[in-house]
Amino acid sequence: MKAVTWHGKRDVRVDTVPDPKIEYPTDAIVRITTTGICGSDLHLYEVLGPFLEEGDILGHEPMGIVEEVGRGVTAVRPGQRVVIPFNISCGTCFMCEQGLQSQCETTQVRDQGMGAALFGYTKLYGQVPGGQAEYLRVPFGNTLPITVPDGPPDERFVYLSDVLPTAWQAVEYAGIPPEGSVVVLGLGAIGDMSARIARHRGAGQVIGVDLVPERLARARLHGVEALDLREHENDLAEVIRGMTSGRGPDAVIDAVGMEAHGSPGAKIAQQVAGALPDPLAATLMQRAGVDRLNALYLAIDIVRRGGTISVIGVYGGMTDPLPMLTIFDKQIQLRMGQANVKRWVDDILPLLTDADPLGAEGFATHTLPLSKAPEAYEMFQKKTDGAVKILLKP
Ligand SMILES: NC(=O)c1ccc[n+]([C@@H]2O[C@H](COP(=O)([O-])OP(=O)(O)OC[C@H]3O[C@@H](n4cnc5c(N)ncnc54)[C@H](O)[C@@H]3O)[C@@H](O)[C@H]2O)c1
Ligand SMILES: [Zn+2]
Ligand SMILES: [Zn+2]
Repeated sequence: MKAVTWHGKRDVRVDTVPDPKIEYPTDAIVRITTTGICGSDLHLYEVLGPFLEEGDILGHEPMGIVEEVGRGVTAVRPGQRVVIPFNISCGTCFMCEQGLQSQCETTQVRDQGMGAALFGYTKLYGQVPGGQAEYLRVPFGNTLPITVPDGPPDERFVYLSDVLPTAWQAVEYAGIPPEGSVVVLGLGAIGDMSARIARHRGAGQVIGVDLVPERLARARLHGVEALDLREHENDLAEVIRGMTSGRGPDAVIDAVGMEAHGSPGAKIAQQVAGALPDPLAATLMQRAGVDRLNALYLAIDIVRRGGTISVIGVYGGMTDPLPMLTIFDKQIQLRMGQANVKRWVDDILPLLTDADPLGAEGFATHTLPLSKAPEAYEMFQKKTDGAVKILLKP
């Protein structure tokens, strides 16, 4: 089959690789019909290279049609339409039963000290072949796939794999009071969808921050007061306080993560790590603070006293410096983590109707054949041609 494979920094290719096979009786093989590229894939494209091996199959936002099932699978059958969550979770362990699927005790990557395995996401997360491919082996066929109705286009449902539950969790963890205020930092797919969900769920004021004009414009279309970081390099916090009764917002969602614009020192550290041989670079990244923390620092500065910061952007440094005095003194509540995809599906599915209140259909800016993945990654990283969300069709 054809699959998107990692070959090095900013080097992904479409290779012919062996088709996946049923390995356990509870496996299913899914023929992928649509698969997204995520901001998290951009971390692999550049900064997290030391944790990948040449030939690793990328991708964790797939949906498609069940092609084949192992003899132990009864919950889905060939021909059924399914979306596959990005976390690989068993559905039956202590963590899964509490809705903490990103911490699944059956798939935790214990030799790396990490939580649940993920599709297509580095040795840290189990080095499991990903979903930017023609076929995907899906473990836990009885509990992991999300079945969706036939009829509406893939674009309606594909974001159940990641974007929708991730944004839902970001809003849930932000704990915005009814009619309260939230600032969403970063208006990529995750921030944009978080802003839409926050409004849908009753936030009174949604302010967004980014530095890409198309992304700011897109958010404004959905009722967000969008601020351009480039116009407020020095006064952003003051401007936001001015918009929120001088106090700061009730909640801040950090939908930027480890590659934030405006963190020159850490950018150099990331570049140094990237220039080292892989084992050294991996050690440096695991022991040192190499995150670009500008967005998180801003969140700590602007959130009102007693407010909540919901970190949904991915961070990876082990000794990142944080202003504990301010975090403690302001009594800031901090919540974060990988999305527990399956936990939020029942909340979201009723919104994926023809009325489409979150605008899932039309959310992608680009839909390209899988063979164009190298161009798609480059365009997404450089944010050219208005690319915000790219879907690939195998
Ligand atoms: N926690 C999870 O389960 C989960 C799931 C999916 C994605 N993510 C993470 O969420 C983040 C966003 O994902 P995405 O797909 O929207 O990616 P993206 O790269 O498209 O979006 C990030 C946005 O942040 C903006 N930005 C950069 N620096 C900024 C700054 N200092 N202030 C404000 N905005 C800034 C960028 O211009 C960009 O629009 C990534 O870190 C990704 O890894 C986490
Ligand atoms: Zn993702
Ligand atoms: Zn589990």
